[in-house]
Amino acid sequence: MNTLINAERDQRIVRSYSKKESALIREGGYVSPDEYLWEDVLLSVVLKKPVLLKGPAGAGKTKLADSISSFFQQPMHSINCSVDLDAESLLGFKTIVQSEGKTEIEFVEGPVVKAMKAGHLLYIDEINMAKAETLPILHSILDYRRMLTNPFTGEVIHAHPDFSVVAAINEGYIGTAPMNEALKNRFISFSIPYINGELLKQLLIREFQKAPAELINTMLNISQDLVNQVKNGLLSDEAASIRSLMDATELAQHIGPIRAVQYSIAEKLDDRGERELVMDLTKTWVK
Ligand SMILES: Nc1ncnc2c1ncn2[C@@H]1O[C@H](COP(=O)(O)OP(=O)(O)OP(=O)(O)O)[C@@H](O)[C@H]1O
Ligand SMILES: [Mg+2]
Repeated sequence: MNTLINAERDQRIVRSYSKKESALIREGGYVSPDEYLWEDVLLSVVLKKPVLLKGPAGAGKTKLADSISSFFQQPMHSINCSVDLDAESLLGFKTIVQSEGKTEIEFVEGPVVKAMKAGHLLYIDEINMAKAETLPILHSILDYRRMLTNPFTGEVIHAHPDFSVVAAINEGYIGTAPMNEALKNRFISFSIPYINGELLKQLLIREFQKAPAELINTMLNISQDLVNQVKNGLLSDEAASIRSLMDATELAQHIGPIRAVQYSIAEKLDDRGERELVMDLTKTWVK
């Protein structure tokens, strides 16, 4: 591991957090598709560059972000961008409070402000789904300035040195809105592929320790066929989703692979021909 990363980790893991903050520290377990990706993502975080994870559904983007939180033992706040995400849900809002008989206006800090001040991680999921008007708020936070003028309070907030942003975008998915250029430009971008082969085998063995080796092998064979047909253009990307494969493996321990694959993989595909192809391939591996 790069010495810069180790030095930064040594410094961050000794920080102490309240019970509430500690509850925001995630569990790791991301399996890197190659020897570089995981370290390169960590290095970007250490260099205080915002990280953008791009990849299809169920490729481990959220797991990777969780693993960063686990690696640095650092709390992570999450925002899920939807069309109704507004400045309040990012920064916070004013509210009326009663204290000692007096009525006062108080500002309740949102995830961005909390993470910046406390030096936590901020995970922004589906960042491409947010309304174009909302995201420019983040521009000054994401570039070299690492600061924000809170429009609700006028407060100028400089980010804590440990503050980092990790964002994710679901790419290769029909209906995905493209990401605004000025926003995209501020990130270091990483493509997150579906893992396969030996790495996928290790992941399944780790996650399903009670599953018979034969079942794991069957699921891996099915998965490899699906990956090949995605490459051939006969199946959509989602057919190779690791999330779906893991769901199928879990179900298969109880109901066998055929129905498990049908419910977890085939039924999610829009095209009837694709659904049939998935089931035909599956049946070739099941006696
Ligand atoms: N490379 C990987 N290492 C470890 N776990 C993985 C990996 N790829 C997928 N998974 C597992 O697959 C499941 C889905 O992963 P995750 O939720 O991180 O996907 P995602 O890319 O965030 O998907 P979405 O775009 O739908 O949110 C999780 O159980 C996760 O642990
Ligand atoms: Mg996710």
